[in-house]
Amino acid sequence: MSSLTIGKLKLDGNLVLAPMSGVTNLPSRLLCRKYGASLVYSEMTSSEAVVRQSLKSIERGFTCKDERPMGIQLMGSVPENLAESAIFLQEKFRPELIDINFGCPAQGVIKNGCGSELLKKPGLIGEIIRMLSDSLDIPLTAKIRISDNFDETLKIAEIIEKSGADAITIHGRTQKQGYSGKSDLDFIKGIKSKLTIPVIANGDIFDEKTSQNVLEYTRCDGLMIGRAAIGNPFIFKKISYFLKTGEILPSRNTEERLGDFFDYVKLCRNYDMLTFNDLKRNAQWFTKGMENVKQVRMKINKTHDIDSIMAIMNGLV
Ligand SMILES: Cc1cc2nc3c(=O)[nH]c(=O)nc-3n(C[C@H](O)[C@H](O)[C@H](O)COP(=O)(O)O)c2cc1C
Repeated sequence: MSSLTIGKLKLDGNLVLAPMSGVTNLPSRLLCRKYGASLVYSEMTSSEAVVRQSLKSIERGFTCKDERPMGIQLMGSVPENLAESAIFLQEKFRPELIDINFGCPAQGVIKNGCGSELLKKPGLIGEIIRMLSDSLDIPLTAKIRISDNFDETLKIAEIIEKSGADAITIHGRTQKQGYSGKSDLDFIKGIKSKLTIPVIANGDIFDEKTSQNVLEYTRCDGLMIGRAAIGNPFIFKKISYFLKTGEILPSRNTEERLGDFFDYVKLCRNYDMLTFNDLKRNAQWFTKGMENVKQVRMKINKTHDIDSIMAIMNGLV
């Protein structure tokens, strides 16, 4: 397995945890790092909210020694505010890098001209990347979606490279697609062949086989994994083991998956991040695919407090 170098940051592999709003909090990132993610990203944080000193947004950048290297992802469209918030977070949490979100298709984000809406303004993307790369001491990455047109997408990637980004992640879907259809590997492969900065492929990497296919087909420098890691941090161990040895590790059995869930709870308690809503979502995610899971999930659905969820999960052991 090759290792990925982003600016001055040398990683110990090339598997990256995707930034996922409502998912990649510190405890879940720590579990993914434990199982071999080489780099993890925070949930996206609004630069406007950071500039307003919103504590909830600032705290998304909270990190600890065990999780490094980590990147904080920022979302916004005003270059000066993105730069101000990036400098603030760089000083406060000392992340290994900052990422800018040019890919989010959510209505609430694009109506403010942020996320994937910025793909319609390549000039502004260039201005944002230039201002941030000039302002930061740490590497800068950008995460994009593709547009319908290859040349247009390539132009955006080239602007990002020329303006000073140290790496780019490409999710091979358009804004309009959301999560439907397939991630377009031809776009990713074509862009990779034209850039000199590292390119990280993203979209539909779910297991050993898809990882190998995407790496071999696109010749990208790294892989970013999102949905497959939700409630399943062990995916990083499975994939990295396969890429190193060509062998497939057995999937986690129920006991092991519950062990991961209880570790998640412990980490949430350690960092004072345990909330009912988050625990309920994670209980559903960590039990996905288990035997007789339908009834368990129905029971979890009906809970109203943390103790009830823990009683159900303890009952599965
Ligand atoms: C629940 C959820 C939240 C997401 N939040 C973010 C986010 O905050 N920032 C971002 O750049 N992408 C976000 N994404 C997109 C993922 O980072 C990734 O690009 C996408 O899921 C495709 O990768 P996958 O097929 O491995 O899941 C999110 C995706 C999901 C499913």
